[in-house]
Amino acid sequence: MQNFLANEENNINSISCIQSRGDESGWSPSAFSLEDKDSWRRWRDIKLRQAESARDAPPTLIEDPRSVSAAERRALLAQVVATNFALYEWRIAPSDEDALDEWLLAFTGSFGLRAREDHRSANGNGVVRIEVAREGGRAGYIPYTNLRIAWHTDGYYNYHGPSNCVRGMILHCAAAASQGGENRLLDHELAYLRLRDSDEEALRLLMHPQAMTIPEATDDSGRFRATNAGPVFFLDDSGALTMRYTARKRFVEWRDEATRGAADRLLALIESDPHVRRLKMAPGQGLLCNNVLHDRAGFENDADTWRRLCRVRFHNRIDIN
Ligand SMILES: [Fe+2]
Repeated sequence: MQNFLANEENNINSISCIQSRGDESGWSPSAFSLEDKDSWRRWRDIKLRQAESARDAPPTLIEDPRSVSAAERRALLAQVVATNFALYEWRIAPSDEDALDEWLLAFTGSFGLRAREDHRSANGNGVVRIEVAREGGRAGYIPYTNLRIAWHTDGYYNYHGPSNCVRGMILHCAAAASQGGENRLLDHELAYLRLRDSDEEALRLLMHPQAMTIPEATDDSGRFRATNAGPVFFLDDSGALTMRYTARKRFVEWRDEATRGAADRLLALIESDPHVRRLKMAPGQGLLCNNVLHDRAGFENDADTWRRLCRVRFHNRIDIN
């Protein structure tokens, strides 16, 4: 914690450095251009320094999620700037499920996350309960089982353009699994960086607008979902790097064999990245992120405590200003 706080000032200063357009601190609109090597190298160096400084940072303590203090906000945003995600821990707990939903929306709203996704499994408050569903439309769909979920970013099957997709998310732990259920996290900007360092042609293939296709399917509420095609890496309308990805092998079509090979290369880099964060969330803890890469280990729970996580997804990113 101390190391992290000692670096907080630098990280906060970097907020304006990274996100401002046209300054001399490293970020520029062409940082992700494959043709502009100088801009890329400047951004790359800053990114690696930030990732190192925020490595293994403990959750930011939040006294009251309905009213985030300026210091709490600074600490949390410093992590987001460095790694595109922040872990947090609420010091108080809501009294019931409706209150939990209210708190989640107030908390995410204080970080500018307001463009809520209209998810088919969301309750009336717009919150999805990630729990084991033994009956009803959700039964059998992997998020609602206790099975392992492979590396992915959320909403990879629901991409409708660079700024009409899932870009922000909160995943809040309501009850810990009695066994298993750990998550691994990786900043998608680091995944991009590793691939660009090791195989630029693979990166080009994964930026193709038709790189990854999710075939049509019937969703968990019985509704038809059309075929969904798009890139793996792309820039949104603010110039932010965004990722649409799943490591699952079934129900995914790659554009061609070369693109499939690029995806295999990417997965190997993700799996071996030294910055992969491993954690098991405790009740009251959670993840606030710009839709970073994550997975979930399979889990077991005691009877009647199957509800584990609450999730809200957004079409916008965390507001760092
Ligand atoms: Fe997910």
